[in-house]
Amino acid sequence: MTVTRILTGITTSGTPHLGNYVGAIRPTVAASRTAGTQNFYFLADLHALIKVQDPAKVQRSTLEIAASWLACGLEPDNDRVWFYRQSEIVEIPELTWFLTCVAGKGILNRAHAYKASVDRNRADGEDDDNGITAGLFMYPVLMAADILVFNAHKVPVGRDQIQHIEMARDFAQRFNHLYGDHLVLPEAMVEEHVATLPGLDGRKMSKSYDNTIPLFCTREELKKLIFSIVTDSRAPGEAKDTEGSALFQLYQAFASAEETAAMRDAFAQGIGWGDAKQKLFERIDAELSPMRERYNALMQEPQRIEAMLREGARVARERHGLPLMRRLREAVGLRDLSKLADAVADDKPVKEKAALPVFKQYRERDGRFHFKLADAGGHPLVWSDTGFDAPKLAGAWIAAAKIHGGRVLDLIDRTGICWSEGREADVREALDALRDADAAKP
Ligand code: TRP
Repeated sequence: MTVTRILTGITTSGTPHLGNYVGAIRPTVAASRTAGTQNFYFLADLHALIKVQDPAKVQRSTLEIAASWLACGLEPDNDRVWFYRQSEIVEIPELTWFLTCVAGKGILNRAHAYKASVDRNRADGEDDDNGITAGLFMYPVLMAADILVFNAHKVPVGRDQIQHIEMARDFAQRFNHLYGDHLVLPEAMVEEHVATLPGLDGRKMSKSYDNTIPLFCTREELKKLIFSIVTDSRAPGEAKDTEGSALFQLYQAFASAEETAAMRDAFAQGIGWGDAKQKLFERIDAELSPMRERYNALMQEPQRIEAMLREGARVARERHGLPLMRRLREAVGLRDLSKLADAVADDKPVKEKAALPVFKQYRERDGRFHFKLADAGGHPLVWSDTGFDAPKLAGAWIAAAKIHGGRVLDLIDRTGICWSEGREADVREALDALRDADAAKP
């Protein structure tokens, strides 16, 4: 079984609304429960600084978004599901610089958000660069670093972000070409069947149209907003179109297939707009109200969220960010000078000491026994998934690997162990190296 690493970021520049819930939070939380995946979700607070320069707003939005995701059922366990703040992963700005040095400026010139700003300036007869920060220009590079630092395979995003993922691939490819195969080329994952939610005025629900329904407003406010949804002037008793009805689309996004069919009938039979709105309100509120309670409780305990995010960042750095950056620093030539001094003294090239992969056995909080094999840089190569009932069983796997090397993967039942997608060859090579080293022992 291979593990697919899924990663996505949420810019902390606002308050979550129903559109964010239906389009991103709900499907992502559900997907995080899929077996065979590792999931990295983070608050993109460094990206927020590009558009929000009000410190209190950045802080408030970070708390609200974190509380929303947790209230909607995200369960970070720092093993399969990670939740952290981008700004705490200090490897991200470092990697941003490495990527900046391989990113083509011409590619960044073509980024949609930057180009739109330039076009606006031109239309207004202003200088091209008027009011455009280098931060906006560099946005795609920072985003690439977010993704590449955890070697993510899949990145769930909206359509508007596909170009950014393509750029991340491009930067990774250039880096790999220059320095060796270190970075995974990520792929965008666009959910075709997740509908964009209409807002109060029927256009796409979006902060920029000021037509949103906040995800966790009070029940009363929710009702008021739903009753303000724009409808046509058909009276009760007149048949109504579901096609193009914002009210119907909103209902559909929350209702089961049967409920939706019943509402379609009601429209045909001329349900009054007031009654339809009441039904919509009740349906949405039924889904949201348990989450709203959790949200309100979480908002009362920001210190709990702070601790959770810090722990997420700490473990994510330790297990993933640091080992990768250690390798990349070495790869680009930011190296220990003393090694070179030895070589100069001996007047011969440095012979790299062959570092070996390392097996570790450990016990999880749930009491089960695990092993993991990390490469010489500490980066996990293969690990037990659900674990073993007894330490002996994990030990037996390791012993077999040391005898057979990579071939152990063909000899032994693979269920219950996993490695990252695309790395089977690395795993086999590492196991072979361990077998050979073991055989060479006196
Ligand atoms: N740019 C993304 C957005 O506005 C947010 C984001 C930042 C992101 N870094 C990311 C998304 C990395 C996916 C992966 O929606």
